[in-house]
Amino acid sequence: MEILQSLYLWLKAGHVIFVIFWMAGLFMLPRYFVYHQESDPGSAEEARWIDREAKLRKIILTPALVLTWVLGVLTALAIGAFSEGWLHAKLLFVLVLSGYHGWLVGYSKKLARGERPLTGRKLRMLNEVPGLAAVVIVVLVVVKPF
Ligand code: HEM
Repeated sequence: MEILQSLYLWLKAGHVIFVIFWMAGLFMLPRYFVYHQESDPGSAEEARWIDREAKLRKIILTPALVLTWVLGVLTALAIGAFSEGWLHAKLLFVLVLSGYHGWLVGYSKKLARGERPLTGRKLRMLNEVPGLAAVVIVVLVVVKPF
């Protein structure tokens, strides 16, 4: 525990760095979906979007999700935050964001199989989820209203 406390600022810095990567990926992937769905089914362009989506998932999104969680939990342990109300509320919204991440991964696999269940308009609307969640999460962690 003393080691964690002495590393607190480094853990928090790492946490915020991976939060940025994660959020960037969460904003980019549905944008890719919109462009992907504008390509002709079975075309070379569609194949390129499938490849880009898989790379974004494997290189950015999934590692950033894991490291945000690991470093966030270690930061919380370092400052004994698990008994505090703001962290409980924050975790609720982080779970929503993690669920959204899981849904995006599922949707990109559907697209790779040639399915296109949602319209571009619906995808654009869903793209608001990470922005709204980030606003609430950052207010909770910085202002700590309870
Ligand atoms: C995955 C689970 C997460 C846990 C357990 C967690 C936990 C924490 C903890 C304990 C801190 C330190 C707070 C302090 O020093 O007072 C922190 C800082 C921070 N977290 Fe998270 N967090 C998580 C996810 C996220 C997400 C998804 C975002 C943004 C969308 C985020 C944004 C931030 C920011 C901006 C800070 C710096 C706040 C400051 O220095 O005042 N965190 N987090």
